Amino acid sequence: MSATAINGAEVFELLRDDLAAIEREFGRDTVSGVTAITEIGEYLRGGGGKRIRPALLLLSAKLFNYEGRGAVKLGAVVEIIHTATLVHDDIIDEAKTRRGRPAANTQWGNSKCVLAGDWLYMQAFKVAVQERNFRILDALIELTQQMVEGELLQMEKLGKLISLEEHFDLIYRKTACLFSVCMRLGAILGGATPEQEEQVAKYGRDLGMAFQIVDDVLDLTASEQVLGKPVASDLREGKVTMAVIHALQRCTPFERKKIAAVVDQRAFNGVSHADILEVLTRYGSVEAATASATQYAECARKAICTFPDSEIKRALLWAPEFVVAREK
Ligand code: IPE
Ligand code: IPE
Ligand code: MG
Ligand code: MG
Repeated sequence: MSATAINGAEVFELLRDDLAAIEREFGRDTVSGVTAITEIGEYLRGGGGKRIRPALLLLSAKLFNYEGRGAVKLGAVVEIIHTATLVHDDIIDEAKTRRGRPAANTQWGNSKCVLAGDWLYMQAFKVAVQERNFRILDALIELTQQMVEGELLQMEKLGKLISLEEHFDLIYRKTACLFSVCMRLGAILGGATPEQEEQVAKYGRDLGMAFQIVDDVLDLTASEQVLGKPVASDLREGKVTMAVIHALQRCTPFERKKIAAVVDQRAFNGVSHADILEVLTRYGSVEAATASATQYAECARKAICTFPDSEIKRALLWAPEFVVAREK
């Protein structure tokens, strides 16, 4: 597909200065007259994170030869929105750990974190408005509503053995929508044609689907030490994800009862994490979920195949590989 492949270090090198500028922008954007907000913002930013969303936005803008300051600004915007959703998500999920550190809610309590999350959302929009572009605002508003709706729908489905269709709808809203918007914003900045904009938006969507499927697999198979956040938490939170849905479609009534017991009680009482993994192993369910992620990753690569070869395109072709192979 491409002349020479590019590796992760080279992609990082390509984006290093812009990513550093985005960190500075994020730091400036999250200062408030109220210290609790600045502290929470600083704590979350300091926790690190892969910064995959701003990286995608930068690559998309560069694909269309955009050279203005807007990509750094909007890179910070999407990372701030992501941060706000994580603060709220950890409150909802009662998560204790995020990015290898105590989650913000355990340090400041839920009430302050809800408000800090709200403030971060509005701050992201305040920065985005500076672009004076309604299409950018449209995309960000639609996105934020999709993500909030996704969290709400997920809450309503907790403890239920949902179908694959319902699951795909949830992961689109939770994750793929933001990946897609990152790519779209880069295209808007760079003055892409509508057709090109749709191509990169599809790339982002498929990449995001792959990303969340892998996140859900890692929740089942990784260790907290590597992941930096709790493992087996989805089942404990009453969430069935792709590998579990795959097994449910094939398992015996007895095995189904085991899975239902964990999801229903939201605890490993009598049925352990290892018991569930044993069922998943019997049906090759983890492999099946990984294969689905690989398929989405391949679709992402295909979505941009008509763009001429360039270093940036090669970086975009590398990202799906990274997403599927990642360990955290
Ligand atoms: C976590 O996203 C939330 C999901 C969509 C699974 P990331 O895995 O990108 O989190 P950080 O930003 O790198 O910590
Ligand atoms: C992704 O869902 C969270 C958001 C998009 C807000 P998860 O609940 O799977 O994310 P983690 O696993 O807590 O990072
Ligand atoms: Mg969570
Ligand atoms: Mg998760």
